[in-house]
Amino acid sequence: MKYFIANWKANKTLSEVINWADQFSNLLNSNNQARNNLDKNKIKIVICPPSPFIIPLKKKFEKQDGFFLGSQDLSQFEQGTYTGEVTAKNLKGLVEYVIIGHAERRKNFQENEQTLFKKTLLAKKYNIKTIYCLGSANQSYPKDTDFVSYDPSEAISTGDGKGQIKSIEEILSVKINLNLSPTMKYLYGGSVNEKNVHQYFINPQIDGFLIGGASLDPSRFFKMIFG
Ligand code: PGA
Repeated sequence: MKYFIANWKANKTLSEVINWADQFSNLLNSNNQARNNLDKNKIKIVICPPSPFIIPLKKKFEKQDGFFLGSQDLSQFEQGTYTGEVTAKNLKGLVEYVIIGHAERRKNFQENEQTLFKKTLLAKKYNIKTIYCLGSANQSYPKDTDFVSYDPSEAISTGDGKGQIKSIEEILSVKINLNLSPTMKYLYGGSVNEKNVHQYFINPQIDGFLIGGASLDPSRFFKMIFG
């Protein structure tokens, strides 16, 4: 099983989201093998859009096996007087996954480990699977996270998915140094696109990918997943 987690970051309008969904579902509907791979759990797709677009996407894909929604972040607070926050409690039932500690959150919003561990705890409390991002094997991660994603900031693209991807050797050596528990899934993120995904995809040590820029275009994203 491979996971393709799309992180749309702060992109798209509502009509662009509807267009993306229409185009992606047309591609799926015209490709039996792709649908089969999703139905048989060989592939899982998780879209993490800006929060306002979670519900329209969920409605569009609710009957599609293997297709899930995720949040790009969640609040460190559980509930209450925190204007503007989106909490795990708010997200419960709307998303199955959440990204925690993405390099852009750490850098632009000064999120530290203590905050990120609190977020993980809240996500787990509300039954949301956690994708915990790290930039190196020296950073720590919560022992109960479902996924660890190695997303080194120097490999993250400026938005087109065309930066410098890390070598497979480096990705695997980070995995060894992280000493993950056998049930924890390991993802890589940083300039993965339809042209370079193949050798990473076939490696059984990598459970999937976190994809920014190249997931914004439905045909590039489809091609990356289904060839
Ligand atoms: P990118 O983003 O695919 O645009 O490099 C990846 C990420 O943010 O992890």
